[in-house]
Amino acid sequence: MCGIVGYVGKRKALPVLVDGLKRLEYRGYDSAGISLVQKSEIKTWRAVGRVSELEKKLDLAEAGNVGIAHTRWATHGAPSEKNAHPHLDCGKNISLVHNGIIENYTELKKILIKKGHKFSSDTDTEVVAHLIEEIAKKKSFLMAFREAVKILEGTYGLAVITNKEPEKLYCARKGSPLILGVGRDEFIVASDASAIINHTKKIVYMEDGEIAEITPDSFNIFNGKNNHKEDKKIFEINLSDEQVKKQGFPHFMLKEIHQQPEAVRNALLGRVEKFTKDGGTSVLGGLRDVENRLKKIRRMVIVACGTSYYAGLTGKYLLEEFADLPTEVESASEFRYRKNTIDRHTAVLAISQSGETADTLEAVREAKLKGALTLGIVNTVGSTIARETDAGIYCHAGPEIGVASTKAFSSQLSVLVLLALMLGRERKLSFSESKAIAKEMEKIPEKIEQILENKNAIKKLAKKYARCTDWLYLGRKYSFPIALEGALKIKEISYVHAEGYAAGEMKHGPIALIDEKFPSFFVAPSDSVYEKTMSGMQEVKARKGKIVAIATVGNKKIKELADDVLHIPESLEALSPFLSATVAHLFAYYVGTERGYDVDRPRNLAKSVTVE
Ligand code: AGP
Ligand code: GLU
Repeated sequence: MCGIVGYVGKRKALPVLVDGLKRLEYRGYDSAGISLVQKSEIKTWRAVGRVSELEKKLDLAEAGNVGIAHTRWATHGAPSEKNAHPHLDCGKNISLVHNGIIENYTELKKILIKKGHKFSSDTDTEVVAHLIEEIAKKKSFLMAFREAVKILEGTYGLAVITNKEPEKLYCARKGSPLILGVGRDEFIVASDASAIINHTKKIVYMEDGEIAEITPDSFNIFNGKNNHKEDKKIFEINLSDEQVKKQGFPHFMLKEIHQQPEAVRNALLGRVEKFTKDGGTSVLGGLRDVENRLKKIRRMVIVACGTSYYAGLTGKYLLEEFADLPTEVESASEFRYRKNTIDRHTAVLAISQSGETADTLEAVREAKLKGALTLGIVNTVGSTIARETDAGIYCHAGPEIGVASTKAFSSQLSVLVLLALMLGRERKLSFSESKAIAKEMEKIPEKIEQILENKNAIKKLAKKYARCTDWLYLGRKYSFPIALEGALKIKEISYVHAEGYAAGEMKHGPIALIDEKFPSFFVAPSDSVYEKTMSGMQEVKARKGKIVAIATVGNKKIKELADDVLHIPESLEALSPFLSATVAHLFAYYVGTERGYDVDRPRNLAKSVTVE
């Protein structure tokens, strides 16, 4: 995720670019930068942190009618001025900004260095500027740009300017959004309409594989396959500014639930296919430096808080099942004060969306003191936990704005599956087992999309139960952490009392709560413990308790016990948490909105709890 803005037209570009960056800042804000074409030069400014830091370096009266701008959400290379976009070629004749991940940048960088190119950043993005420069030595800029993007693997939204063609702006799109605003004698390119809508409501949507060549008077969009000029439709959008930032969703939380398929795809990008090819394993890039120590660990201790803690609980089942690795999961706030028994044969894995949660950070520091190998699964690149752990794996879910964590949870689960496969393949997991899991993992995004298509059924049910004041969320094995997560979500955003419990534990006390006014929410996919979960439903039914159940599609029998059923697609037991979590998140969201609360900013909460 990040924000891209490009301008070409009759006006000064700088004010449009700065305003656009501010409107896109919710997409990522590690650093920001701008390039303008001024006569035969390219002038560039960069700053770490928010756009306001960049603004301090700018004079809005700067000349230049063509320019590009970027707010970064770092994936490769820590947030720093040198890694901030735009990135330029050796000759400073090309400047570009990029959204996405160039998966083959390491190989390309080696080739370009051998050809004499000098790099000034740690990013994957910079290779694109040098690649175009290299090819443009023998071809027109447009041809060089076309050829360069064909070589790139991974995802990109690119905006490029060159002082060789000072009146032009070039763009390319594959896997990262890029749209073109059609103004009067001007065009504005951006990652989403929020940076365009205050200038024009006429929009052209670029598709994957397309390349755009734009001048103040016209634009051409070419099909990447056959280079034919596309006849693109100009759409008129009628959304308010605020609505556009949420891309038409009423809340960031709902938008981010809908980004769960993309979050899973981004977490798997360039990683999961290594488990389906011959040999079927992969050292996840961020763990390469500690590969040998990882081979010797005898147990894993996961430390996290809140939703990340529930991801860790799911990780426990995955690591024990696929990697035979004894795994404990601790609330970070408890871990620090307990006499823990970690040593140098222990790996302590911190899971954190923000990478700044004080309890989790202090747990990492305690683990380091005891000589443990410290690892991180973090969403925010360059965050404190990411920097203080010995190694880690980034989630690449993009910034999560809603206080209630949703897409980050899905990306954390994805990384935990990859970690379990990697460690499993170093232990007893066979290639065929690993391949089967990885193949099903690749289908999870589309299965989440099937649930999202059915969201109105969830909304209807949430409306029916919105006035309930108490819930018991119940699940067994892989569904137990989802029962806990579902209870947390409905607590967090609708202020309803809900308890998550191991379904088998209900009869040891909590069942005393059950009567016709106290509903239960069962997470009950068709899995190895389904029959046992049904017994729990019987016990609730016998006491006239209302039951809402998540069940696998095709399971009709469950209707004999459950008052209402929400279905999820069939999948491997170990991967069902991805699907039941989306249902639980949507159910909580719709209860919260039905009760009229601000689900993006719930009372008493903060997105990142940086106090102990
Ligand atoms: C989850 O919806 C909550 N916002 C909260 O429990 C959160 O998961 C917890 O504070 C941990 O945050 P982190 O993942 O950024 O460390
Ligand atoms: N992968 C690029 C980087 O880390 C772009 C990240 C983004 O989309 O902001 O700089």
